[in-house]
Amino acid sequence: MMRIFSFALLAQSVFALPDASPAPPSSPGACTAGYSKPQPWGFFANNTIYTPTGTESVTYPRHVELEDGTLLATVSRSGRSPAAFPVFESKDGGASWRWISDIHDQVNGWGFGAQPALTELTEPIGHFAAGTVLASGNSASNNGTRIDLYASTDKGRSWKFVSHIAQGGRPNTTNGATPIWEPYLLVYNHSLVAYYSDQRDPLHGQKLSHQVSTDLVNWGPVVDDVAYDEYIARPGMTVVSYIPPIDQWILVHEFPRGNSSSHGSHYPVYYRLAKSPLDFRLSEGLPIVINGEVAPNASPYVVWSSVGGPNGTIIVSDADNKVVYTNQAGGHVDKWELHDTPAGATYSRSIHIFKNHQDSLVLFGGETFDDMGLHLLTPFTATVVSLTDILKNW
Ligand SMILES: *[C@@H]1O[C@H](CO)[C@@H](O)[C@H](O)[C@H]1NC(C)=O
Ligand SMILES: *[C@@H]1O[C@H](CO)[C@@H](O)[C@H](O)[C@H]1NC(C)=O
Ligand SMILES: *[C@@H]1O[C@H](CO)[C@@H](O)[C@H](O)[C@H]1NC(C)=O
Ligand SMILES: *[C@@H]1O[C@H](CO)[C@@H](O)[C@H](O)[C@H]1NC(C)=O
Ligand SMILES: *[C@@H]1O[C@H](CO)[C@@H](O)[C@H](O)[C@H]1NC(C)=O
Ligand SMILES: *[C@@H]1O[C@H](CO)[C@@H](O)[C@H](O)[C@H]1NC(C)=O
Repeated sequence: MMRIFSFALLAQSVFALPDASPAPPSSPGACTAGYSKPQPWGFFANNTIYTPTGTESVTYPRHVELEDGTLLATVSRSGRSPAAFPVFESKDGGASWRWISDIHDQVNGWGFGAQPALTELTEPIGHFAAGTVLASGNSASNNGTRIDLYASTDKGRSWKFVSHIAQGGRPNTTNGATPIWEPYLLVYNHSLVAYYSDQRDPLHGQKLSHQVSTDLVNWGPVVDDVAYDEYIARPGMTVVSYIPPIDQWILVHEFPRGNSSSHGSHYPVYYRLAKSPLDFRLSEGLPIVINGEVAPNASPYVVWSSVGGPNGTIIVSDADNKVVYTNQAGGHVDKWELHDTPAGATYSRSIHIFKNHQDSLVLFGGETFDDMGLHLLTPFTATVVSLTDILKNW
């Protein structure tokens, strides 16, 4: 996450504020100067999905593309109690959006408002059919943090609690406290993998863990993905993607280590490549640095596109910059580039490549980390750009 100073802000914004007014309908089609009005499956900048009101702010967008090309997107919306994840749907490549549901905490009484994750079952698992949409997130209160799993059998219109994946202590980013954070869900080998940030191991300020379930109800042992001997290291915020040409998986994470910094970045972004997404613990951690001088900062996201040569393009986003970081050399550590985008910096910005439109890079937008809680009412947005065009602009 979770920059050290943020607990008070998180606690205040996600867990404690009184109820705000009901959600206004999302405003379709807002556009920005220099970019045309969003057309279905077109390219556009800052298309509004949802405009916050009152004391709300939106950060940490997450999304899933369903089998039929529908995009579902959600966001962490602070300023409401109890917190819930609003879900929006687009059937035309992000050009128009409508609200379809809120995902509420049904079991803890703690709200469900921080650090969402979405995926779709591409095959049946346990009693759940292919096409079931899954959601996770952090349900948190002063009594603890719980990474819970919810399922929707109607494409995101309604949700039912399935299981507690993992549980930790109350939200507290100080080393020695025992919360868990920031799930990421992956369907792999007839099972569901839940990755998360984990402060429960006394040997590590924070590490990255995963657990596997073959029925979505029972969860296997906690397995390390990234854990450093240096106690104060806090690898955080796993996101995983597959890179077909090299048949390897990539895990990206932020990597704060006390007050140290890399090229001016206090939350430098590292990655690991592995043949199995269950074996990242065996791989070497590599930094993303461009030209030996620029390093992305915080809450990375990673996707892959077949556009960009024999190895396609690995695309990484960070929290603090408009640019994306790309690699067309199968993840070679010296081959990262930086390319401008028209989208804004966003805390934990998620990005996407459409399955059937490999040149269309989606960047979800919301508030920056530093501006959370300032009530700027920065909207939840979708920007879609041509990856080919982005790669031309150094
Ligand atoms: C926290 O735990 C205490 C003691 O079990 C209980 O009284 C209280 O209702 C709990 N609060 C929440 C928000 O779960
Ligand atoms: C956070 O955790 C640290 C380390 O365990 C502890 O000293 C501190 O009291 C905790 N803060 C809160 C607000 O619980
Ligand atoms: C897939 O899961 C099965 C059964 O759990 C296991 O035996 C097999 O090794 C797994 N394969 C991979 C590639 O992880
Ligand atoms: C980081 O810097 C602050 C302020 O300079 C200092 O109080 C703190 O002890 C430092 N922490 C570490 C882990 O070095
Ligand atoms: C593609 O990736 C592989 C594995 O990293 C590498 O050996 C190869 O040189 C790359 N090809 C190109 C054109 O970058
Ligand atoms: C999109 O919004 C961001 C602020 O979130 C701004 O920095 C950027 O310039 C906007 N893009 C365009 C094309 O107006």
